[in-house]
Amino acid sequence: MAVDLLLGLQWGDEGKGKIVDVLTKDYDIIARFQGGPNAGHTLEFDGIKHVLHTIPSGIFHENAINLVGNGVVIDPVIFKKELDNLAQFKLNIKEKLLISRKAHLILPTHRLLDAASEASKGKAKIGSTLKGIGPTYMDKTGRNGIRVGDLELSDWKDRYASLRDKHIDMIDFYDAKIEYNLDELEAEFFKAVEVLKALTFIDSEEYLYQAQQAGKSILAEGAQGSLLDIDFGTYPFVTSSNTTAAGACTGLGVAPGQIAEVFGIFKAYTTRVGSGPFPTELFDEVGATMGRVGNEFGATTGRPRRCGWLDLVALKYAVRVNGVTQLMMMKGDVLSGFDTLKICTHYKYKGKLIEHLPYNIEPENVEPVYFEMKGWSEDLTKMKGDAKLPSELNEYIEYLEKELNVPIKIVSVGPDRTQTVYR
Ligand code: GDP
Ligand code: IMO
Ligand code: MG
Repeated sequence: MAVDLLLGLQWGDEGKGKIVDVLTKDYDIIARFQGGPNAGHTLEFDGIKHVLHTIPSGIFHENAINLVGNGVVIDPVIFKKELDNLAQFKLNIKEKLLISRKAHLILPTHRLLDAASEASKGKAKIGSTLKGIGPTYMDKTGRNGIRVGDLELSDWKDRYASLRDKHIDMIDFYDAKIEYNLDELEAEFFKAVEVLKALTFIDSEEYLYQAQQAGKSILAEGAQGSLLDIDFGTYPFVTSSNTTAAGACTGLGVAPGQIAEVFGIFKAYTTRVGSGPFPTELFDEVGATMGRVGNEFGATTGRPRRCGWLDLVALKYAVRVNGVTQLMMMKGDVLSGFDTLKICTHYKYKGKLIEHLPYNIEPENVEPVYFEMKGWSEDLTKMKGDAKLPSELNEYIEYLEKELNVPIKIVSVGPDRTQTVYR
């Protein structure tokens, strides 16, 4: 049995959590492959909204095992909070939630390093979620990291202490001084580590190999979005992992040939939280309306998300880099009521029209060129299943399908599980 991937095609927050939850009924295993608690994946059902950061979005389904893969970075403190939030639902966490021994740990000093690095950058800051993601992946690639499996070894606290001391020297190196109480942070961390140690650690690549041999169906859940990918995103305003399809191979130990469907998920418009270029960003009432109607506030940090029209140039790029086989368009309901909708089809780049994403998309280099379409006014939020979509929305979808050459199979019309239309 093959592995399907689900990943975001924009700057994150496309609605991955909702769709993973919707799809989980058809899978035996949901496996998160990269990122950490910088992610905020929201799902809603039965009138309750849940936000997950590290735990995969299939956790509420009895049929599925949820796996945190080796490519993920785990902050025990945030993980414990997520578990505390789940406690009331009486899920069988010990059996249903598995953690790769090869996943790296975010230490309190990684978070402090993130803060010091951002503070020292001033205006040039990345707009990091300050969850310690960058410093933790730096220690991973620098071969200094501490992994979940190390917690089973007797000397892990010695290794912890030497890495912590090194981090403290590094924090002092930054010009910007940050305040912290390490004793408090460590007390909280060690308490949370004990909670983590009570969970089930596995050699996840072996587990996934055996699961495939046994014919189990696996859905790999991405975090962030393709334009935040460390290689293919808008560097340096990116996260520190490969958010694109290849990240699922390295983040789970799944061979490329085992991957079947690649579900690419995008909003019917575009949002971005944090710093960095965003060619179709709107600074007018239209952008403010998208933000208000779409309730565009970060699920992890609460920061308002920047909003703009759909950027087909960037979307085509993401579809190609990931080899997307099926598309899912989210937040269709938020575009109801606009007389005219715009889609960016080209950039004007150094005076010339181009259709591909160039190396540098800073505002001084690119100007978006738009195609205009008539909008729809119907309220979509009561629609589900095989509901008939307004004709203008169908035209919008068909235009995108033709340009992207990939079918749009799901149109989401609200945050709830049920507000999902299939095509
Ligand atoms: P993720 O990080 O990709 O999982 O996305 P987030 O959870 O950070 O952000 C998506 C937000 O949009 C959440 O608040 C969802 O509840 C909400 N959402 C998802 N799909 C839809 C939709 O089709 N319509 C509306 N209005 N909201 C949606
Ligand atoms: P989900 O999985 C949106 C952004 C941050 C910042 C940059 C780097 O919910 O889609 P980091 O903390 O990774 O060092 O921040 O990436 N960012 C996200 N934006 N959704 C996310 O995750 C994000 N995770 C990180 O805002 O610009
Ligand atoms: Mg999110």
